[in-house]
Amino acid sequence: VQATKLVTQRLHSEIISMFILLPSCPGVARIEKVLIANRGEIACRVMRTAKKMGVRSVAVYSEADRHSMHVAMADEAYHIGPAASQQSYLSMEKVLEVAKKSGSHAVHPGYGFLSENTEFAEACKQEGIIFIGPPSSAIRDMGIKSTSKHIMSAAGVPIIGGYHGEDQSNERLQAEAAQIGYPVMIKAVRGGGGKGMRIARSDADFLEQLESARREARKSFNDDVMLVEKFVEDPRHVEVQVFGDMHGNAVYLFERDCSVQRRHQKIIEEAPGPGISPEVRRKLGEAAVRAAKAVNYVGAGTVEFIMDAQHNFYFMEMNTRLQVEHPVSEMITGTDLVEWQLRVAAGERLPLLQDDIILRGHSFEARIYAEDPNNDFLPGAGPLLHLSTPPADLDTRIETGVREGDEVSAHYDPMIAKLVVWGEDRSAALKRLRYCLRQYNIVGLNTNIDFLLSLSGHPEFEAGNVSTSFIPQHYAELFPAPRAPSGDTICQAALGLVLQERKHTQEFTHTSNGETRASYRASGL
Ligand SMILES: *[C@@H]1O[C@H](CO)[C@@H](O)[C@H](O)[C@H]1NC(C)=O
Repeated sequence: VQATKLVTQRLHSEIISMFILLPSCPGVARIEKVLIANRGEIACRVMRTAKKMGVRSVAVYSEADRHSMHVAMADEAYHIGPAASQQSYLSMEKVLEVAKKSGSHAVHPGYGFLSENTEFAEACKQEGIIFIGPPSSAIRDMGIKSTSKHIMSAAGVPIIGGYHGEDQSNERLQAEAAQIGYPVMIKAVRGGGGKGMRIARSDADFLEQLESARREARKSFNDDVMLVEKFVEDPRHVEVQVFGDMHGNAVYLFERDCSVQRRHQKIIEEAPGPGISPEVRRKLGEAAVRAAKAVNYVGAGTVEFIMDAQHNFYFMEMNTRLQVEHPVSEMITGTDLVEWQLRVAAGERLPLLQDDIILRGHSFEARIYAEDPNNDFLPGAGPLLHLSTPPADLDTRIETGVREGDEVSAHYDPMIAKLVVWGEDRSAALKRLRYCLRQYNIVGLNTNIDFLLSLSGHPEFEAGNVSTSFIPQHYAELFPAPRAPSGDTICQAALGLVLQERKHTQEFTHTSNGETRASYRASGL
C-alpha cells in the first residue's frame, strides 16, 4: 500500500510539474517558490502540499516562533519581528520584503492575519507576486455586509428577510415585521454584543419589544435606529466549500455543519451536514456557486448560511479564504484544496468539474485548544511537557504546528491541533473521532479534550441534532459537577510522584554526599 501510494504521489507531482512548473506552458504562471505568510498548523499544512508538488516553501516567523515547527519545516525561513502580530505576521511591508528578497513567486496567506486584506492582495499584485486568494474586488465586496447581501439577493441566493429602511415610525416597523413573518429580531443598527436586541414573537408583542430595544440602544449607543429581521430559532450554521478558477468555472465541494460553537467559535465541524437530504444539498451547493459567480470568485471560498429546522437556508456571509475546517471537505471528496489553490493561482483550470466531485463517507474535525472549558473556555498557554497523539493514517489526520516540548504561546490563537477523521458513514466517523480523542494525551496545560469527548458522546450530538445553541441547551450534561478522583487515579498519581523523585535523587547520587545517598535509598522503595 505504501509503495503504491508513493508511486501515485510521484506520478501526481510529475503531472503537476508538467502543468504548473514549466515556464513554457502558455497562460500558466510559474510557482516554484511560495511564501507562507502565517504560522502554526496552517503554515505546516500548506508546506506539506508545497513539498508534495515540488514547490519550495518560505516561512516567516516572529521572535516567539523562532524554534517553531513551521520554521523547521520550511526550505527557507526569515525573522520578521517581535512576538506581537501587529509588528510581525500582520506587517505587510515586512512580509512583502521577504517575498521579494527570497524570490517567492506567490504568497499563501493561510487564514486570519493578512488573508482577507484587500490592501495586501493589491500590494502583492503590484510587486508581481501572486496572492493565493480571490481578486481583491471579491474580498472587498464580501467584506461589507450590506453590499454582499445586495449582490447575493440579485444573484438569486436566498437572504434573510429584513427591513433596513429609514422610516422608523412604529406603524412602518410593525407592518414590516408582519410582512417578514414572526418571530422577528428587532436590532439596533449600531448595536453589538446583544445590546439593543429583542425578539418579538407576535404582533401583540411587537411594540413592547420595540420600545424596550430602543431604550436600551439609546442608553448604550445614544442611537435608537432599528432594523427588523427574520429570527431563526436555534439555527444551524451550514457552510458550503466553493472553488473558482480564472476561466469562469466554479464548483461546490458540499457543505459542512459548524453549528457547535462556544464563544462564537467553532469546536467540532463535520461534512456533510447531518440529516441533510441530497436535494437540499444540491440546492445549497448551487446557491453557493451562484454566490461565487456573482463576484467572479477565484480560488477557495466558503459561503455561510444559517439554516432553520425545516432546512430553509439564508445567506450570511462569504469567507474569501481557506477555512480552518477545510480538511473535512477534503476527506469526503478525496481532494487537496491547497493543491487546488496553487494550481488555480497559477492560472490552471479547476482539477475537477461538478459532476466529477463525488461525496464519499463522513468526516469530523475536533479542534484541540489550550483552554479551560470549566472556566468559560478561558484561553490558556504554556509548555507541552508531554504530547502523544493517535497515529495518523489515511483516515486520521493530525493537523498541528507544535511538537512535544514546544510552547503554546499566549500571543496567538491557543489551538494546539485539529484532529480530522473519516469513516464510511457518520456513526463510523464519530466512533473513530472518540477513539482518537481518548488516545490524545497532553500534559503541561489545560485542554478541552475531555470536553470534546463529552460533546461528541452526547446522545443529541450522536443523533445529529445540532444547533448553535447546543452547548447552552445541554449545559448541565456537558458540564457535570466534578467528581472526586477515583482510588486508582490517586494511586497512579502517588506512584508517578515517587518515580519522579527517585529519578531526581538518582541523578544526584554520584556527585553528592552521603545524605543524598540516604534519601535515594529511602525513596528507592
Ligand atoms: C433536538 O434537540 C432539541 C434541544 O434539546 C430538542 O428540543 C428537540 O426535541 C430535538 N429534536 C429531535 C428531533 O429529537
